[in-house]
Amino acid sequence: MEILDKSILAETEGTRVVKIEVNQPLIASKAEAGQFVVLMAKAEGERIPLTVVDKDVAKGSITLIFQELGLTTKFLGKLKKGDSLYSIAGPLGHPTEIKKYGNVILVGGGVGIAEIYPVAKALKEAGNCVIAIIGARTKELLILENELKNISDELHITTDDGSYSRKGFVTDILKESLTCNLKLKTYNLIYAVGPIPMMRMVSSIGFEHKIKTVVSLNALMVDGTGMCGSCRVTVGGKIKFSCVDGPEFEGALIDWDEFEKRSRIYADKEKHICKLRGLN
Ligand code: FES
Repeated sequence: MEILDKSILAETEGTRVVKIEVNQPLIASKAEAGQFVVLMAKAEGERIPLTVVDKDVAKGSITLIFQELGLTTKFLGKLKKGDSLYSIAGPLGHPTEIKKYGNVILVGGGVGIAEIYPVAKALKEAGNCVIAIIGARTKELLILENELKNISDELHITTDDGSYSRKGFVTDILKESLTCNLKLKTYNLIYAVGPIPMMRMVSSIGFEHKIKTVVSLNALMVDGTGMCGSCRVTVGGKIKFSCVDGPEFEGALIDWDEFEKRSRIYADKEKHICKLRGLN
């Protein structure tokens, strides 16, 4: 599992967004939009889920994008072209339901932009009118602008600090698009990936406007096969496992309070270990 290529997509004080292309012909031949892999950077490391952002079947490679935030992603970010990953399992999870919806809105926040990209591409290829709304904390952290511009009918950009394009949040644009354009256009799907508060807000806006809203959850995972329970999420009052039942769920049905709490479960321990290993 050699890293064939590596590039830094975004960098700001304290964090980077990194793209790696990995030699993985079997996964490349099978992966569909919305699916992910579970990766181990080294034998004694943890497993982390990463969306398959792109694939090259002829070359036998997949593209993964991650932000250096936790212990494993910081270690992964230190690997170079030519280095090998310990293991990758996948493709996992259900693929996105790709069909002709009509007008679809994709909302991506931060590194979530990487996760909406393959879905936007597949929805465009299926004949949909794709409106993409992407946002980042600041200009330096905005990724895949040109890639999304090439496949979207409309692309809207926000930055929290106003350093690029419009100052504000992706949800501001979503609300405006629905309020101003709803009489002109019918939207049949909203698809969102990003920080939990963003996905929660997008789900609530979609619900208010009676538009099907799907989010792809970045749950904590261990085995990725439905056995450990760490990616548990409550959806419509039922227990689901993000790795085998998801990662996509209807946003309005998710118990967001529980999901948010579970996603922070190891945050303090991880910070402590990062500090111990000098991976700040
Ligand atoms: S990662 Fe273990 S059940 Fe989903």
